[in-house]
Amino acid sequence: MAAAGRNEARRIAGVTPKWTSLLPVASVVAATALFAACGQDRAPDVPMSEGQVIMLNSGCSACHGTEGQGGMAPSWNGIYMDQITLEDGSKVLADEAYLIRSIKDPTAQQVKGFSIMPPNTLTDAQIQLVIDYIKSLK
Ligand code: HEC
Repeated sequence: MAAAGRNEARRIAGVTPKWTSLLPVASVVAATALFAACGQDRAPDVPMSEGQVIMLNSGCSACHGTEGQGGMAPSWNGIYMDQITLEDGSKVLADEAYLIRSIKDPTAQQVKGFSIMPPNTLTDAQIQLVIDYIKSLK
């Protein structure tokens, strides 16, 4: 966002007379200061959730991505309560029960277009925390 603003400012600066050229510069400085302030607020405020820590430590991220963005496996972004298309073409609602089954018994249902997920040793409590994390991904 800041980069786009800067480019825009440069573009404007290039086609406007000299006396106005300070205006875009001032707005860029203001925008940069605002951006830096936001960054400062955000960094210490967002600790990793327990579920994310578990999925990173359990190797889930190797396929599902460090932030659940997907890769060799389906993305987790927004999948909670979404319709998932399975290998046989049928659709299933990704509710809590579906997510638990996907993790406990990965071969029970196959998401269309993906290979097979290996088994894992997560406890029920860990699975619940990972699912809470999946629910938080929009
Ligand atoms: C070797 C790669 C790999 C690893 C490691 C892996 N998965 Fe998967 N996962 C997959 C694939 C491929 C699928 C899609 C096929 C299927 O449904 O089994 C999947 C599907 C899922 C689904 C259902 C997603 C959907 O869109 O319906 C969940 C939930 C899930 N995995 C959780 C986990 C968790 C939690 C871990 C860590 C304990 C994990 N996975 C580790 C490959 C992996």
